[in-house]
Amino acid sequence: MRYDLAIIGGGPGGYTAAEEAGKHGLSVVLFEADQLGGTCLNRGCIPTKALLHVSELYRSIKESESLGLRVSEAAYDFEAIHERKNQVVQILRKGIASAMKAAKVTVVNTRASVTGVNEDFITVNADETSYEASYLIVAAGSVPSIPPISGSKLPGVYTSNDLLEGSGLKLGSLIIIGGGVIGCECASIYRNLGAEVTILEMMDHILPPMDREIAQRLNMYFKKQGISVSTGAQVTEISGEPGAMKVAYKDKTGKECTCSGDGVLLAAGRKPALGGIFPDVLLPASERGALIADEAGKTSVNRIYVIGDARAGTPQLAHVAEAQGRNAVASILGNPLPVNLSVIPSCIYTSPEIASVGMTEDEAKAAGIPVKAKKSLTGANGKAVISQSESGYVKVITHAETDVILGAQLVCPRATDMISELTVAVSEGLTAKSIFRSIHPHPTFSEMIWEASAP
Ligand code: NAI
Repeated sequence: MRYDLAIIGGGPGGYTAAEEAGKHGLSVVLFEADQLGGTCLNRGCIPTKALLHVSELYRSIKESESLGLRVSEAAYDFEAIHERKNQVVQILRKGIASAMKAAKVTVVNTRASVTGVNEDFITVNADETSYEASYLIVAAGSVPSIPPISGSKLPGVYTSNDLLEGSGLKLGSLIIIGGGVIGCECASIYRNLGAEVTILEMMDHILPPMDREIAQRLNMYFKKQGISVSTGAQVTEISGEPGAMKVAYKDKTGKECTCSGDGVLLAAGRKPALGGIFPDVLLPASERGALIADEAGKTSVNRIYVIGDARAGTPQLAHVAEAQGRNAVASILGNPLPVNLSVIPSCIYTSPEIASVGMTEDEAKAAGIPVKAKKSLTGANGKAVISQSESGYVKVITHAETDVILGAQLVCPRATDMISELTVAVSEGLTAKSIFRSIHPHPTFSEMIWEASAP
């Protein structure tokens, strides 16, 4: 069978590229060994946000007395919460299947491997059938990486897949190894539902790539919510059995410590899922096994593109995979790249939410840029006071001479929605004045952006 484009992987990168290519009249075959939607939909972004939504609602109801509500007993049904999450996933999965149908994409529900590459086409094998395509996009995603810690493969040690897929795992106490995005979001879910949660992070603050001020804030909220955080922790061993696990570690002073819990979550990063895709074809990869490509996603092998988590130097984010998918298809069609990949917003769905785009104040200073940083606080925002939000802020970083917005960091309700306005500003080189000149409706959280953009 001959197609214009073959895509391996049906996550946000793969299905976006397939839809885009199909809409432009290319014949497309998409290989997906598991369910359409990839990590994001089946065991990542969507299940976590569904669980965060419900768990936050539960916590808010329990804390609603100060708002004048009288709720005699708040309780939850763990299985029903996961059932609801599974329904959300199914609805969205159906949506992707319909979009594939509408774009006339052939979906092959099996594992594929690349068996041949020549001047004009690439051969992909799936279930003993050969497919030929003029172009190939590899969108194979990533899997949790297991750190080399003794006991990390014991029963009772889980990855985010185990917590998020199917009916989840009910745990009264959880030790999380890794205080990155997955660790912090899972800590929030389990703590909101009343579990004892301990985070062990090896770096000197949680969310290591984030602005230190943001990490300090989140640490403070976690402490208030009863989540224990140990930074600078060197985990040495995991032992025990499900329901009675132990983690031994050295704390930041070098003292030997142990903590115990019903289960252990490994949230120490993710690695490209490229195993078995290229049995005979050699593609240039980085030290961490991700494939090297240019801005359009082209690898050094003619007609082969890579997008998403399996591409070197790429933040492992669904919206980046989608954007790279659109750019790769544009490149195949010979069109200009439609998405600016140099400005990437990042969001963390803790409570309160965290979002960031462009440069932080420290990064701008380190780059020798004359910088102005202006903050507006939730304490002075009507909507934040009404919703009794935690103390937080919007910080806008501008070039002190040109007033061009260089970046922004938000720690406040709806931060993950509001970051888009600032992403447009950074991407398009807008000035703070241009935001301040535009009316922001009252009362809204977005007034904080307006205020932080004031001269
Ligand atoms: P991550 O790279 O964000 O964090 C891993 C953390 O584990 C780091 O803080 C690291 O210092 C720590 N760590 C590594 N080995 C350790 C050890 N042996 N002991 C203690 N700490 C250790 O990776 P994470 O959280 O697993 O997430 C994977 C990817 O998925 C990330 O790229 C993330 O951006 C993405 N993601 C994004 C979400 C979002 O956009 N809201 C949600 C969830 C995941």
